[in-house]
Amino acid sequence: MSPHPNRRTIGAAPAGAQDRESAAKAVREMFTSIAPRYDLLNHVLSFNVDRLWWWRTARKFDAILKRPGARVLDLCCGTGDMTFALRRRTTSAPAQILGADFSHAMLQRASEKGRGTNLRWIEADALNLPFPDGHFNLVTSAFGFRNLADYDAGLREIARVLTPGGECGILDFGEPGGFIGKGYRVYFKEVLPAIGTLLSGVRGPYAYLPASVERFPSPDEMLGRMHQAGFREVSWTPYTFGIAGLYRGTRST
Ligand SMILES: C[S@@+](CC[C@H](N)C(=O)[O-])C[C@H]1O[C@@H](n2cnc3c(N)ncnc32)[C@H](O)[C@@H]1O
Repeated sequence: MSPHPNRRTIGAAPAGAQDRESAAKAVREMFTSIAPRYDLLNHVLSFNVDRLWWWRTARKFDAILKRPGARVLDLCCGTGDMTFALRRRTTSAPAQILGADFSHAMLQRASEKGRGTNLRWIEADALNLPFPDGHFNLVTSAFGFRNLADYDAGLREIARVLTPGGECGILDFGEPGGFIGKGYRVYFKEVLPAIGTLLSGVRGPYAYLPASVERFPSPDEMLGRMHQAGFREVSWTPYTFGIAGLYRGTRST
């Protein structure tokens, strides 16, 4: 896989953001504002297919999740649904699973939902993680990575906290092509923002969603960037006609 030639900073840029700091601040405020209704909106707007995507992602990492004492980080965990899907794949000698997010309100919801489990939650910025090098066997991120203000810095930080040979799984939206893509784009750009705004009572986040997917690198470009950041055996698996997809990579030794 040849590295992508464009090395300028590329990452999420919500309306009005001028630099990495203001973009991150806008993203955090946006998720904090929709936290109370985030789960409901997720399930309604995805017709519950989101559950299937989390499950499919978690199951890909069974070999790690069933390993006693494995250390797992779910980055940008939000209200924790990816984290719970990971936990459901573990066996009796459970992996240590940690969910991290920089929105306090989202994490609060996660911790309420995870009461009684051994899951742990930590407020942290994905671009500056409070973990030593080589700490985790697996790092996942579901629908969070796309919101980072600097994708290359995000990938480097994931690679840094992974053990050599550790695995990374990034689940995020894609842009399906062909006839299905055409119909889906109408839904994603017109219908979804309208319903999202109505149900959340907040203007903005659900217009940002399709805009952020449009800005996100293509699968080929993402794989090149992963390779550059220190991952080998990189791959992308489309889910549901490419509406979403899983990026995988193994941290080079
Ligand atoms: C679309 S939600 C996804 C939540 C969850 N993973 C899921 O699948 O439902 C994106 C999450 O990423 C978090 N996030 C975005 N940028 C972040 C960053 N730089 N550091 C930590 N969390 C971040 C947001 O606060 C938000 O909770």
